Amino acid sequence: MGQKTIYDYNQKIPEWNESLEIGLDSIDREHRFFLDLIREIEVEALRDRESEFIQLHIDELILYARFHFFSEEIYMKKIKYPDLDKHRELHLQLIGKLSDQVTRFQMKEIHIESIVEFLVNWFKYHTLVEDVKIARFISS
Ligand SMILES: [Fe+2]
Repeated sequence: MGQKTIYDYNQKIPEWNESLEIGLDSIDREHRFFLDLIREIEVEALRDRESEFIQLHIDELILYARFHFFSEEIYMKKIKYPDLDKHRELHLQLIGKLSDQVTRFQMKEIHIESIVEFLVNWFKYHTLVEDVKIARFISS
């Protein structure tokens, strides 16, 4: 057994590695895919800032985020996670904030980099702080 990699909070869009795992396979798989979707947006923006695919990838990510939150909520219900309601509230807030950001992006009030940064922070602070609590509950 080696030392667990420590997550580097300075990375921009982190490459998937074990420091990002919360320890629940099905959720980890979805988190990994979520990161891929963030990267897709960035790659497209770097390729062409005016690309219509940026908005399409944002739409794709929003759909996936909803799907992922739904998966997590079913899982929390199954394991009788005591903070399900609070966690569900956080999901609603994230989706709300994301759609605000996307509207501002469409109005050209913010750049695509702000959306990417928002998504990476979401990953860092929701996934690695709140979702980890679900894994801890299971192993307690
Ligand atoms: Fe969550």
